[in-house]
Amino acid sequence: MIKITVSASKEYDVVMERGALSGIPALMEEAGIIPGKKLCIVADETTNRLFGGESCDLWQALAGAGFDMYRYVFEGGEKSKTMNTITGLLNYLADNRFSRSDMLIALGGGIVGDVTGFAAASFLRGVDYIQIPTTLLAIVDSSVGGKTGVNLDAGKNLAGAFWQPSLVVFDPYVLDTLSYDAMLDGIAEAVKAGFIGDRAIIDEINALTSAADSDFLTEIAARAVEVKRIVVEEDERDTGSRQLLNFGHTLAHAIEKLSDYRISHGHAVAMGMVIVSSAADALEWSEEPCSDSIWTILTRFKFPLDYPYSARELTRAALADKKIRGNEITLVIPRIVGKCRLKTIPTDQLEGFISCGIQQLEQLKGKDI
Ligand SMILES: NC(=O)c1ccc[n+]([C@@H]2O[C@H](COP(=O)([O-])OP(=O)(O)OC[C@H]3O[C@@H](n4cnc5c(N)ncnc54)[C@H](O)[C@@H]3O)[C@@H](O)[C@H]2O)c1
Ligand SMILES: [Zn+2]
Repeated sequence: MIKITVSASKEYDVVMERGALSGIPALMEEAGIIPGKKLCIVADETTNRLFGGESCDLWQALAGAGFDMYRYVFEGGEKSKTMNTITGLLNYLADNRFSRSDMLIALGGGIVGDVTGFAAASFLRGVDYIQIPTTLLAIVDSSVGGKTGVNLDAGKNLAGAFWQPSLVVFDPYVLDTLSYDAMLDGIAEAVKAGFIGDRAIIDEINALTSAADSDFLTEIAARAVEVKRIVVEEDERDTGSRQLLNFGHTLAHAIEKLSDYRISHGHAVAMGMVIVSSAADALEWSEEPCSDSIWTILTRFKFPLDYPYSARELTRAALADKKIRGNEITLVIPRIVGKCRLKTIPTDQLEGFISCGIQQLEQLKGKDI
């Protein structure tokens, strides 16, 4: 068993273990969560079918332990990460008379986690919830750290709350059904964690021979969670160093929005990181060349790396993000593999920066690394 304790506004364990889904009542008891209360499993249609049904280990274990079980299922996908889904879930909880001492369980990837966490933060001004990540991306990144939220028409993650879970439980067995593309999404966020805080993650990803090796991926995820733990404990509310976790994300959010969410978050992050690191190399803002290292991983795992948008389109979409204040934008720039820094530039220099990254990338594409 791997256990990492996060000490933020709430202290909680991230537990990774084969068989953890059927053993969850014991983990909950250890976290002080005792049977008798109502539990609402929140899932998308896929995660409900795979892991949430009444005959599944999770439901059996929780019902068997004496929890009063409910479920709320919504259609998966980024287009469901909206206030409408939150309203539906909140009404369901109210109709079923959930109280402040009852709980939610997020059973799914980052989308289910973000929606469930935000609903938990808002219902009766805050109820507890557990994260059960079922994608690599969710265990590597989104299930830890308490950032929750939904998209608005204006862009990604524009409404939300900081609301830490009470427990995070990951069973590597869930990865067995994950698509290759979804696995790539998780690898992209693991590369991000490696770049900002732990070079060994990059070495391990380079040593990974199969994207289906769930035990090895779990070890990588544990390292990524450790990077996140350090950053979240230092700056839970994202006013300083936590912004490092946004490496590649300013562009990723622009790419997701421009593609009308057809390009997934993790794939967009991969594109964002490679453009930023290429520009940083070309401008000599990095202390060692970093883009080769990302490019090697992305090509080895066959990430689709055609950039369908021009520097101008990406800049417009990035600057439309309502989170940007004034006429400056803060970028996350790799210093060396394993360390990044924040760099603020005037917004009118962003297009030149992106364009430089795209040009450098064209050279990388022609190079046999
Ligand atoms: N809150 C945070 O800190 C944070 C961090 C990173 C990303 N995110 C968010 O996470 C979201 C992306 O999460 P994601 O990549 O997990 O996407 P996702 O939740 O949409 O899951 C991807 C797909 O895989 C399916 N799926 C989930 N588990 C499965 C399994 N075990 N087997 C088979 N299919 C399975 C889902 O139904 C879905 O179709 C984005 O909205 C992103 O903004 C949030
Ligand atoms: Zn992300």
